[in-house]
Parts: sequence; structure tokens; C-alpha cells
Amino acid sequence: MTTRRLVLTRTAAVVGAASTGLLLPQIARAQGNKVRVGLMLPYTGTFAQLGVAIENGVRMAIEQQGGKLGGRDIEWFKVDDEAEPSKGIENATKLVQRDKVDVLIGTVHSGVQMGIQKVVRDSGTLCLIPNAGVHAATRALCAPNVFRTSFTNSQPTLALGQAMMAKGHKKAVWITWKYAAGDEAFEGFRDSYTKAGGTIVKELGLPFPQVEFQALLTEIASLKPDAVACFFAGGGAAKFIKDYAAAGLKGKIPLYGSGFLTEGVLDAAGPAADGIITTMHYGDSLNTPRDNKFRLDYAKMFRLQPDVYAVQGYDTGLLLVQGANAVKGDLSNKAIYKAMENATIDSPRGKWTMSKSHNPVQDIYLRVVENKENKVLGVAAKALADSGAGCKMG
Ligand code: PHB
Repeated sequence: MTTRRLVLTRTAAVVGAASTGLLLPQIARAQGNKVRVGLMLPYTGTFAQLGVAIENGVRMAIEQQGGKLGGRDIEWFKVDDEAEPSKGIENATKLVQRDKVDVLIGTVHSGVQMGIQKVVRDSGTLCLIPNAGVHAATRALCAPNVFRTSFTNSQPTLALGQAMMAKGHKKAVWITWKYAAGDEAFEGFRDSYTKAGGTIVKELGLPFPQVEFQALLTEIASLKPDAVACFFAGGGAAKFIKDYAAAGLKGKIPLYGSGFLTEGVLDAAGPAADGIITTMHYGDSLNTPRDNKFRLDYAKMFRLQPDVYAVQGYDTGLLLVQGANAVKGDLSNKAIYKAMENATIDSPRGKWTMSKSHNPVQDIYLRVVENKENKVLGVAAKALADSGAGCKMG
């Protein structure tokens, strides 16, 4: 009763004072004190582990920088997007309109990203993309308020074709989930492989997130290419690797991929993954002081080994802290765009910068799976930038 009376009295006092205009700035500050950070990620389905790794990375980076954004505490808002494109707009709208987030961090799946892109272009909400590589986000539909800390879908595979030809694989089959990420990863593979003199004998595909690979693997066996290249990720990638071996193809037809194939799945895939060669903007044995510290910190904090998704989340956190510090925590201040454009990210993957279209300019490594590790063989492409074709910052 006492408490209630106190509240009522205070409210009356506030209303009285507010009507004179005296307390308004104070109230506004009290209400808007925390920076509202939205996470829109898949926490269920074939990409669930990717969402968790990204969130872990974001939180660890911010925690290590003092746990605040430009001096302000953080309030988190989370939405499970289920990697479901048909709910992309609805889910992004929840964070932007209902939760009124100051920044939306999301997501993993390229199709869902298209929904986010529409919502944040319309609302002007700051958006950091911690994975989804859909070209349009930093090409034709680029925007001043959208920054990607990961890759474009064709970036890793632009380094793959040459590496395969160098091994003497002149004829290849391509296989993927048929949606933007797989189709655009194919563009990078096709361009690099045919330029290096290779021939793509067949393109195979199945709808996302299906994992009934058997008929396609039988077809690969009968086509007898020199090698297979692919895009799969998450739970589906682990199953593809195991099914490839179970179909008797491992050791007969070398398997290559955009490096997501072997990220975060090596425990699940086991020995079936040994020998798979991929290209990616990260690897497990970079053995730089920066990466070693990151890997140790991550393992201590989460009792898990980090992967490329954890790194992308971490870099998202680093970028957000840098941007927020430049505008003293006022994320609505457009000066944050310049700060983020000019940022150099001291990433576990190696230092990288933002391209004009807001996508990382980064090294792509050649890796091979050995004993549950993506062992780095060398740099397959140095400081690779996406073309950013069609991007006009409005
Ligand atoms: C995507 O849909 O853009 C995507 C998903 C998972 C990955 C990479 C790209 O590992």
C-alpha cells in the first residue's frame, strides 16, 4: 500500500511538472537510457547453431569492450527467424516497430535477409548483417544504414575455381540448395572455374533445407566428374558430408566447397570430412596472436570451439562498438555511417576494411579438413572485394 501510494504521488508530481515542461528532458533520458539492440537470427532449424555462434560472438566482443555502446547500457531484443523467408518482413517489423530497436543485427539466411533489407531501408534503422551473403544487400539494394561484416555469397567461391584447376580437376559437378545463397555461390564458382579453364558438366540442386541427397549422389557417381564443388551449411552440410562418404564417393571424387560446408560441423561429420578442400575468409589454424587469443577466450566463455559464424558475430560487435563510440551512443546520429565506413576491424580472421558498398574487403584462405580442423593451406585470394555492382548510396 505504501509503495502504491508512493508511486501514485510520484506520478502526480511528474505529470504536474511535465505540464510545465520542466521534467521532460529528464523523463526522455530515463526512458531512452539503454541502447536497444535487436538480434534476428535462426535459433531453430538447420541454421540454429549458426545463430547461436553469431550471438555468442556479438556478446563476447561487446563484453570485452566494457559491455556498453558509447557509454550506454544495452537492452537486448531477440527474434528467432527460423531461417524462414516468408516470415522475414514480419519478424524484422517486430524488432523495428514493436521493440523500437536502435540497431538490428541479422541474419543468416539470404532469403530472410531480403525481408530485413526492405524493412530497414523503409525505416532507416541501422542494420548490421552478420552472415547472409545475398548480393543485393550490398549491390542494387545497398543502403547507407546497412553494413555487412561477413561476405557476399560469391566471395568465397571466387577463390575456389583456380584452386581446383591447380589440382588438375578439369571437369566438375556443382551441387547446392536452390536459393539465393547457393545460386550466388555458384556464380563465383562458375566465373573462377571457367576462367581457369575448367568445365562444369552439371549443376544439381534441391530446395532449402531439404537433405534427401541420395538420388543426386547416385547421379554424381554416374557422371564421374574429376571433382564436386558445392554450397551447403549448418546441419544440412554435416549430413551432405556423411552421405557423400556413405555413397562411396569420398576418396574417389574429391569434394570441394564454399567453406561453410565444413564450418561448425566437424564434430558431427567426423572422419567423413577429412580431405575436403574449401575456400573461406577464416580458418582454424591461422595461428596469429589475434586469432589464438580469440579462440582461447571463446572456448573459455562458451565451452565451444569458435567457427566462422562466431568470428562474424564478433566482428559485428567490434564494428558496433566502434560506431557507437564515435557518436557517444546516439545511434540515430548519421555520423555513425562514416565511422563504420572508415573502420578497420581487427578481426580474428585478419584485419579487414569496409568496401564502398559496405561489405568486407578480405583475404580468402584455402583450407583442408584434417582431424576435425579447417587447416589453412594458404591465401587463395588477397584483399578480395565484392564488385558492389549497381550500388548507389542514396
Ligand atoms: C545465406 O543464406 O546467405 C547463407 C547461409 C548460411 C551460410 C552462408 C550463407 O553458411
